[in-house]
Amino acid sequence: MDLNKVTVRVPGTSANCGPGFDCLGLAATIYNDLELTLLEENSLTIEAHGDGAETIPTDEKNIVWKAARMILERSNNAEKFKGAILKMQNNIPMSRGLGSSAAAIVAGLTAANEIVGKPFNRKEILKFATEIEGHPDNVAPAIYGGFTISTVDRGQVQTFSFLPKLKLKLIVAVPDFPLSTRIARQVLPKSVSLKDAVFNIGRASMLVAALMQGKEKFLTTAFDDTLHQPYRTKLVPGMHEVFHAAKKAGALGVCLSGAGPCLIAFSAVAKHIENNIAVEMVQAFKKNNVQANALILDLDTRGAYVIG
Ligand code: HSE
Repeated sequence: MDLNKVTVRVPGTSANCGPGFDCLGLAATIYNDLELTLLEENSLTIEAHGDGAETIPTDEKNIVWKAARMILERSNNAEKFKGAILKMQNNIPMSRGLGSSAAAIVAGLTAANEIVGKPFNRKEILKFATEIEGHPDNVAPAIYGGFTISTVDRGQVQTFSFLPKLKLKLIVAVPDFPLSTRIARQVLPKSVSLKDAVFNIGRASMLVAALMQGKEKFLTTAFDDTLHQPYRTKLVPGMHEVFHAAKKAGALGVCLSGAGPCLIAFSAVAKHIENNIAVEMVQAFKKNNVQANALILDLDTRGAYVIG
């Protein structure tokens, strides 16, 4: 067995969950795998397969390698391991609001941490990942799985991860165009009204309570938002029509996935209506001249883990 080599699997994630801007997130059953081999010699080989593989940097700028190096530096192993071989199999659509960059960061951190003997626990990995990503709402569920609530206070990140009592299907409509988080954040206002803040506090609280207690009827308005989605509507043509189509087909709620452009709807597993919701969402996008495909996923309950 090669002691300097490890393979990790990291789930895709959906941040915000409607009202929980930069705080709420969930992990979904779609995964990127990373095989990392650390080398003593100063040589870097990066191979990427799968979604967006051709756009991934294969030099020092690669985010997975940057994350791995952070672990090496903070554990005083940067002199010992100067190079690496990275092999990635990516299934999470890139730049679509499903946490592909969070998955890359968490994969690099988790794999390097494992090889150097796990000097850091999950909470420390979360802190490092948040430093790189800037906000914890994708990296937290990528690390812990489930639904997550995260707060940051002067660099200290707290995450509470829970599994809802209600079994949900996640229906994701994936448009055929990417959207950079930077651009999707540029359209947001610097401050918001008290009225909008109150609107979101109520919904975010209601969402968490309803999920934890399995109270379906309280979810009907709990995914609504006034803090970011209204400003991002212009970046995702047909967003409201897709929301409407999903709800009409029986979705409990629907929102922008992270900064978009993916839209994510939620339905009760017991109702078996996820296929129909998916068809309706894709159709509604099509009416707005947006080609999209649909993913039907479950909640990932495990988070990042070492598979070999
Ligand atoms: N909370 C972030 C946003 C998620 O909405 O901008 C994207 O990384």
